[in-house]
Amino acid sequence: MEQVRLGNSDLLVSPLTVGCWSFGGDSKSYWGEQNQADVDALVAEALDRGINFFDTAVGYNDGNSELSLGKALGKRRAEAVICDKVQIQPADRLGQQYEDMVAAVLKRLNTDYIDLLMIHWPTPDEHLLRANLEALLSLRQKGMIREIGVSNFSLKTLEIAKETGVEVMADEFAFNLITRGPEREVLPYCEKNHIGVLAYMPLMQGVLTGKYETVADIPPMRRRTIHFAKNDNPNSGHGAPGADSEIETFLRGLRALSAGTGLPCGTLSVAWIRQKPALASVIVGCRTVEQLRENAAAVETKLSPETLKALDDLSKPLFDKLGDYLDIWKKPEESRIW
Ligand SMILES: NC(=O)c1ccc[n+]([C@@H]2O[C@H](COP(=O)([O-])OP(=O)(O)OC[C@H]3O[C@@H](n4cnc5c(N)ncnc54)[C@H](OP(=O)(O)O)[C@@H]3O)[C@@H](O)[C@H]2O)c1
Repeated sequence: MEQVRLGNSDLLVSPLTVGCWSFGGDSKSYWGEQNQADVDALVAEALDRGINFFDTAVGYNDGNSELSLGKALGKRRAEAVICDKVQIQPADRLGQQYEDMVAAVLKRLNTDYIDLLMIHWPTPDEHLLRANLEALLSLRQKGMIREIGVSNFSLKTLEIAKETGVEVMADEFAFNLITRGPEREVLPYCEKNHIGVLAYMPLMQGVLTGKYETVADIPPMRRRTIHFAKNDNPNSGHGAPGADSEIETFLRGLRALSAGTGLPCGTLSVAWIRQKPALASVIVGCRTVEQLRENAAAVETKLSPETLKALDDLSKPLFDKLGDYLDIWKKPEESRIW
């Protein structure tokens, strides 16, 4: 697979990123049990295909995602570009304790450097945000990380990062056919400032693969965002009205377009994202080699202008109804993204 330069950095990454959230999971984890043999096979197949970008986080399965990825990469670590994410730390943990925490991450990943380290979510405390960004700069100076990125940062927080002297190489955002909030402001800002956009949840956790016909078919954990009314879903905490009927109309339209073009729904969804300007890589959660292969083909599929327009038109009623939402798990007044 061809590789692209991430932002202004020297990192060359594939336009498909393997999302590693499920790695290291057990029966109590969000994605359920994930077998290490499947992860080993998936990571080997990815590297063989030139898919070199892997996205993990300290928070994924309590460090077990990092551990599982480190095991699977083994001797091929140098072929990979690892993106990892840390949560905001309180001010009194930003010195030696911060360095020790990242040293533990390196150990789990079985490596001595992280290619791209991100702040997973911003904090509303601007002073603390600046201090955390400065802590990343210090890790970079020490050679523990190569580049700095952010996740779920909008315009103001990106500006703050710039003011602290951090050159942000990538911003990771929920972005897909039914989550178009970043499209009007964040994407153009990133394009103008040479920040690579990494789109997460491109399949809306499976909803956009066509495997669910109605909203009721979607497992409750995968319909807890502002797209769906709360109804009887105990996992939903946003309190927004949702757009269930628009979602079902959209899913019917996506299946019809899939039948008309001969392309799977997931392929249409991923290829639509891939063709957006500013987009560096699409982070797809892959659990099996088969999913990886289908998602790799999707990233390399070039949609015709007619199909792109059909997808834009199909998702427009939802985009109009939901608006420029960025934090899809919260009601607007509780958004963590700013
Ligand atoms: N920065 C952040 O705050 C943040 C937040 C969320 C996610 N992420 C990152 O983004 C990655 C992707 O997001 P995500 O995993 O939440 O959602 P996603 O990529 O939209 O969906 C992934 C799920 O869809 C199913 N799937 C994948 N490929 C498929 C295919 N070809 N056909 C049918 N089903 C397929 C798999 O689940 P089943 O097989 O179980 O259906 C897979 O676990 C994560 O792994 C993580 O690295 C980052």
